[in-house]
Amino acid sequence: MIDATQVRALLAARRDNHSLPQPFYTDEAFHRFDIDAVFYNEWLFACNSCELRTPGDYLTLEIGTSSVVVVRGQDGEIHAFFNTCRHRGSRICTQSAGHAHRLVCPYHQWVYDLDGTLLHARQMPAGFDRDAHALRPVHVEIVCSMVYICLADTPPDIARFRETVTPYIAPHQPARTKVAFEMTLIEDANWKLVIENNRECYHCAGNHPELLATLVEFALPDDPEGSADFQRLMDDKARAWDRYGLAHRPADGGNEFRCIRLPFHRGAVSFTEDGSPACGKLLGDLVEPDLGSVRMFRVPNNWNHFLADHIIHFRILPLSATRTALRTTWLVHEDAVEGVDYDIDKMTAVWRATNDQDARLAANNQLGVASIGYTPGPYAPSEFMLRNFTNWYADKLTGYLDAHDDDLARARRTIGLRVSNG
Ligand code: FES
Ligand SMILES: [Fe+2]
Repeated sequence: MIDATQVRALLAARRDNHSLPQPFYTDEAFHRFDIDAVFYNEWLFACNSCELRTPGDYLTLEIGTSSVVVVRGQDGEIHAFFNTCRHRGSRICTQSAGHAHRLVCPYHQWVYDLDGTLLHARQMPAGFDRDAHALRPVHVEIVCSMVYICLADTPPDIARFRETVTPYIAPHQPARTKVAFEMTLIEDANWKLVIENNRECYHCAGNHPELLATLVEFALPDDPEGSADFQRLMDDKARAWDRYGLAHRPADGGNEFRCIRLPFHRGAVSFTEDGSPACGKLLGDLVEPDLGSVRMFRVPNNWNHFLADHIIHFRILPLSATRTALRTTWLVHEDAVEGVDYDIDKMTAVWRATNDQDARLAANNQLGVASIGYTPGPYAPSEFMLRNFTNWYADKLTGYLDAHDDDLARARRTIGLRVSNG
């Protein structure tokens, strides 16, 4: 149980451009508040639509205590529902992914169509209103083949995000892909520490030798830390991308999202240990192997790299105040052949190593933050994206509290009395 006044007091005590006060990273009650205020309210990245290629393909996501099933319907559209039966509430799909002709509840076998319609409810009396017992829908938006879901009744606007990132991502033709490899890593860290770790490369030089073989650690074309070499490389690549008509300059995503195309080190074209291509068959109908990488991040749970030869999606979902699931998927051209066009070990080695290193860093960060000796510390200039993130987070929580101050009855309904008005 958490009192809204506690959250407000800590938000008020928070120092701009500093890491957050301890309870935001360590406290289970604050974590449940995050789930209510952020994860039950925001657009969340679920998967690439190629993962649900044929009608009946589904995957499930655990968001707080709520499971959601995302499924390709017979109509070809992707739908999402609360994975909770309209009879007595049992989970319906118990696997993380699968294929089903219909969604059948394992408890008493109520049968739902892939569009959520209740088709059969055996032994229910004549006149039972099946239409009133369809699965509860969850909002779905597809942005450049990326499936985003939102559990809120009224989702935030996603149009600006779609319009802004599409010119960067669309040339990589993410719809014409397949998953070459996926893995889930459980990190012993609060989800915000996982995001903060991802949003800066201040730590890269000391921790990511494999990644830095190809990745430039500068976040902006005119990065003040950037060397003269980097500036020449950036200028060369920018001219080439302009010739190809590819978007590359930093997009204005405010605190909500980021999208930019940045080059690899000179001579490297992909995230491999030696910088050579990870997949011989380029994405879509691309012919130029060196397009750098479109780096796209969106709060609260998704970052990505779009290269000429493959795409990497990263998705986080919080498990508790101190545990976070990171799912990474590597996608290649839908017609690429494993062992001919690509080798999974070669393609995934850099980011598997990097993910492991980041998991250790975030877990160690969590341990230190849990100490009674922890005091929020200042971000470095190169950590400007952490400032963006924590400011976004504070605004999100404040907006949630304000909205619920206006309507306590609604608060009680949506957050189950976990927040009192203090
Ligand atoms: S709870 Fe699903 S059929 Fe009874
Ligand atoms: Fe890292």
